[in-house]
Amino acid sequence: MEKTAFFDVRSYDRPWFDELAPGAGLELMYLENRLGPDTAILARDCAAVCAFVNDDLGAETLRRLSEYGVRAVALRCAGYNNVDLAAAEQCGIRVFRVPSYSPASVAEHALALLLTLTRQTHRAFTRTRERNFSLEGLVGTNIEGKSVGVVGTGRVGLRFAAMVRGLGARVLAYDPDPQWGAGFEYVRLDELICRSDVISLHCPLTPRTYHMLSRAAFHQMRDGVVLINTSRGALIDSEALLDNVKSGKVGAAGLDVYEEEADVFYEDVSSKVMRDDTLNLLLSQPNVLVTSHQAFLTREALRAIAEVTTDNLRRFFAGEPVENEIGSFEPAGV
Ligand code: NAI
Repeated sequence: MEKTAFFDVRSYDRPWFDELAPGAGLELMYLENRLGPDTAILARDCAAVCAFVNDDLGAETLRRLSEYGVRAVALRCAGYNNVDLAAAEQCGIRVFRVPSYSPASVAEHALALLLTLTRQTHRAFTRTRERNFSLEGLVGTNIEGKSVGVVGTGRVGLRFAAMVRGLGARVLAYDPDPQWGAGFEYVRLDELICRSDVISLHCPLTPRTYHMLSRAAFHQMRDGVVLINTSRGALIDSEALLDNVKSGKVGAAGLDVYEEEADVFYEDVSSKVMRDDTLNLLLSQPNVLVTSHQAFLTREALRAIAEVTTDNLRRFFAGEPVENEIGSFEPAGV
């Protein structure tokens, strides 16, 4: 049995991995700690580590892991912007990921955020629990007939576009690598930003897409625009978002990801003082809905993640080619 240190484990990970690991010849050592330079030592004597989106796989962590004998990192996620791929290559550590597990999970969550905000069901939920049945302040907006800008038409973006088209929206899309023939209009990013009533982000975080929705971009948006981000927090300049929520330029924002999420997302910090004022202020707005990077969290996706991750490791330990390997030749993260 090959030993793998499984960092940042959650109760919802274990049933799927417990079921599949023995068949793949893996012994998993579950750890609640996040992986980083200070916790890398916990992987001593393990040939591989299994990591998630907010684990720190920078150069220092990788250097220490290689000293302790780790030869592979199996990411149980699609994104790899938290991995220094050049450093991994230097240390001789191979990196695998799960390129796609359930695009429908993420697309459906984006739609859930959108419809919750446009019909204010999050506010109705808290009101009726308090026996407040007033409709004051709950006027919604139809998606039918609106222009929905989809930034990135890969696996998730295409599904989201199909869903909103099903609701009768007009889809405007931007992608440097368009899917011609998908049946919607591709436009330049600046045109999408000016013309959309809803903007939903479905592209990777790279140096080029960092703060793609910048302060300048907010100026170009329609008044009352609804923003949905289920991709990566740093696609949006959060300070600029907050200012535009406060001014009313942004009608609503549904955020499953946040620029500085690594410090708080996935944790219960309800009894602690939260120092991030931008997040505090965003959370206090009635038209901002934040979920804790949970768009992937469905039974179907968890099973697929466990299947592909255990198979990546099985192939690695068997000396077989691993189709889902990523190297430093890849763009800087998704
Ligand atoms: P994908 O790789 O299938 O599609 C990404 C698309 O973005 C591609 O079509 C690509 O050409 C396009 N793209 C690249 N650079 C762009 C740019 N500068 N502007 C616009 N589009 C650009 O990825 P997939 O599976 O559709 O996932 C999309 C994103 O969703 C991922 O990058 C990841 O950050 C995020 N994600 C979030 C999860 C969550 O739980 N919140 C779970 C899984 C993925």
